[in-house]
Amino acid sequence: LASIEVDVSSLQPGMSLTAKWRGKPIFIRNRTPKEIEEANAVALAQLKDPVARNANLPADAQATDIDRSAGKGKENWIVMIGSCTHLGCVPLGQAGDFGGWFCPCHGSHYDTAGRIRKGPAPQNLAVPTFSFVSDTVIKIG
Ligand code: FES
Repeated sequence: LASIEVDVSSLQPGMSLTAKWRGKPIFIRNRTPKEIEEANAVALAQLKDPVARNANLPADAQATDIDRSAGKGKENWIVMIGSCTHLGCVPLGQAGDFGGWFCPCHGSHYDTAGRIRKGPAPQNLAVPTFSFVSDTVIKIG
């Protein structure tokens, strides 16, 4: 399928689901205010990869929390391809030193905005093309 629609109505803040799109896991998380706050507190200069890696934005968009998320008014939502940018393992959620995702294969730590913070992965987790088709349904692709 070129695109899929995912119902996220059951995801309360702090809950995630993993969908499958083009053979890859897609992480969708309804982030808590604390997770957003933590990501916003990080200066761009502290990031290993300062680029948003968000397919919905220009290629040079910066990896601010808002540009990693679903955008203004939907900052709580983050949608990412669940494939470690090192060698493609599937990271674990709510794990690692930064409370985001942790790839156990070689120890890459991603923060609550899915940005690489420590370990061998070179890039932030990729944000695929997606849009909200209603308040509770996300179309991916
Ligand atoms: Fe994730 Fe190597 S594949 S750290």
